[in-house]
Amino acid sequence: MDNFTFHNPTKLIFGKGQLEQLKNEIPKYGRRVLLVYGGGSIKRTGLYDQVKEILSGLHAEVSELSGVEPNPRLTTVKRGIDICATEDIQFLLAVGGGSVIDCTKAIAVGAKFEGDPWEFVTSKKQVHDALPFGTVLTLAATGSEMNSNSVITNWDTHEKYGWSCAYSYPAFSILDPAFTFSVPKNQTIYGMVDMMAHVFEHYFHQAEHTPLQDRLCESILQTVIETAPKLVDDLENYDLRETILYCGTMALNGVVSMGFAGDWASHNIEHAVSAVYDIPHGGGLAILFPNWMKHNLDVNVSRFKQLAVRVFGVDPAGKSDRDTALEGIEALRRFWNSIGAPSRLADYDIDDSKIDLIADRAMARGEFGQFKRLNREDTLAILRASL
Ligand code: NZQ
Ligand code: ZN
Repeated sequence: MDNFTFHNPTKLIFGKGQLEQLKNEIPKYGRRVLLVYGGGSIKRTGLYDQVKEILSGLHAEVSELSGVEPNPRLTTVKRGIDICATEDIQFLLAVGGGSVIDCTKAIAVGAKFEGDPWEFVTSKKQVHDALPFGTVLTLAATGSEMNSNSVITNWDTHEKYGWSCAYSYPAFSILDPAFTFSVPKNQTIYGMVDMMAHVFEHYFHQAEHTPLQDRLCESILQTVIETAPKLVDDLENYDLRETILYCGTMALNGVVSMGFAGDWASHNIEHAVSAVYDIPHGGGLAILFPNWMKHNLDVNVSRFKQLAVRVFGVDPAGKSDRDTALEGIEALRRFWNSIGAPSRLADYDIDDSKIDLIADRAMARGEFGQFKRLNREDTLAILRASL
């Protein structure tokens, strides 16, 4: 293991009926609240009305930013920052999926930042403060509800980058599995792919002696693999939604990844693809990750073999380590296909015409990935295998 310091300040409030906790949490931060949400799902489900009723009971002065896009855009972040300034906002409440939360993080930091928010998204300038914010999560996927990461797209330049800082942790997050009942089947699948991909990004690292971390990662993967096929056929099953919601948070809140640096190359390539084509993040990962695995198999065959045997139940008897490892990757592909995830860029009508632009975007910050540094040729090879 590498040395580490773990500090996650987000208060996690999980379970049935926990929305009521807003009444205790919001008054700690102020009365002038910016409510941030997406394209309308919270209005259709009635969650918007429930939140507004609680805010009104608190005598909060509420401003609203609606229409946050999946893959949230810099232009929307700037709209939110303007509202914070004109309405003297004291607290932000994100109600939605990862996109709404990520956008809220950028607004909260941007409201206390002198200059263009793109400067901190691209890590050109440091940030020193943020407005406090909380979240009500409606989609199990990104883990944004309990981490400091945010991913913002500049649609004018077709760039999409992740950033984080010490001030971009939610003060609290409310997770009621019932709020995820209405997530459509495709988004449910993308979310489950995304949380598995987060675990894979941790799992493929270069540190030695991480037996507990390995098993924590494997247990999340096994739990998603066991639950996902049932959930896609039973979208309003509370117990299944509860399990997946908890998996999504645990996959990226830092608990299973102490003591090593994860890889994150597949995420970097997916962000480049969705910066150019605006596809769902989890869909892109389902296509790219198995090809990243095959490309990097020989970096550490025994790690891929361990995954194959322990998570996918591959029998190693009479096989080379490499063959066992490959069988595991094929089992992952089959599993993702079986729940309805895409497997080729062609599934999103993406051909090779913009493959160089995607590679440029992926290489914008230079070589990337911790398990193995990837260059432009590696990136193009993974993209070509994914067409
Ligand atoms: O906009 P609304 O109307 O709310 O609809 C959303 C959206 O269309 C819908 N949805 C959400 N909750 C729903 C619902 N529909 C019905 N019922 C509900 N309860 O689902 C669609 C997708 O929502 P979105 O928030 O975009 O999905 P997700 O949570 O997967 O977030 C994706 C974004 O997060 C970034 C991705 O790159 C992408 O931009 N990521 C953020 C990370 C982080 N902050 O840690 C890590 C991830 O790796 C990821 O990169
Ligand atoms: Zn992700």
